[in-house]
Amino acid sequence: MQAIEEIGITSWRETAPRMAEALEIGKVVLAPRLHFELPEPERRFLSPACLDGKSKNVSYRPATGALGGASPDADRAALTAMLKRYFERTSALLEALCPEYCGKLSPGFTSFRPAEIAGRATSWRKDDTRLHVDAFPSRPLRGLRIIRVFSNVNPAAPRMWRVGDAFENVARTFLPKIAKASPVSAWLLHILRITKTRRTPYDHLMLGIHDAMKADERYQRECPQVSIAIPPGATWMCFTDSVPHAAMSGQFALEQTFYLPVEAMRDPSRSPLRILERLTGKALLT
Ligand code: SIN
Ligand code: FE
Repeated sequence: MQAIEEIGITSWRETAPRMAEALEIGKVVLAPRLHFELPEPERRFLSPACLDGKSKNVSYRPATGALGGASPDADRAALTAMLKRYFERTSALLEALCPEYCGKLSPGFTSFRPAEIAGRATSWRKDDTRLHVDAFPSRPLRGLRIIRVFSNVNPAAPRMWRVGDAFENVARTFLPKIAKASPVSAWLLHILRITKTRRTPYDHLMLGIHDAMKADERYQRECPQVSIAIPPGATWMCFTDSVPHAAMSGQFALEQTFYLPVEAMRDPSRSPLRILERLTGKALLT
């Protein structure tokens, strides 16, 4: 299967046929000509100096308007306005491209990523230059799908990604290697407020797959994968909980996360939840 579905749209409200289907079967939808324009006063944010020195991203929470990760010296109101505009544009985009999800998506954080990826020092678990599917240690998703929209706002350099194998193949490879979940530890994590809600067996398996993929150097080198250069100005999106992805290099991207209930998919049997339930023979939202 082709990993990429390229579309020619140039505006945030333009439609294109069968986009939800393309996303659900595991494609990265790439719109090279859909630009998130930065007016002149916002170009000063194209620098890691707008970060607080601890965070790798500036984040914005659409539900509250709160900004995080920004330097106290940055123009916070203008940064907030840029991220809010990205949330609005990407919301309109998904409404136009995936009308079947209308009213069912809920927004997560918006992020601005002004740091160069290549050469950044991190632990293997946080290293997004290793192929992985997204799963969050502190936010159990209980089966909710993750759709992420990105725009490369670097005027000169591409963002280099790798895209890996179909989720079902990934799951078949790594499921046998994941230690059994302990209900006591799920309960403790919740009581100690390390997780926001109780971690379900689904969340345990997704985190296990995330970690096992990243830890396996040989898999990283030898698994089926393609490299893609996302050109300056392009916008792209995929279900990051099922499409293995790695960001190898690049600087200056915006990203918006959305969540979608499994039942709102055209074909819920393609969700990681249903695939893992089928492979394990167990209900995983207990
Ligand atoms: C990731 O989601 O793993 C990183 C993607 C990116 O920043 O391009
Ligand atoms: Fe990721």
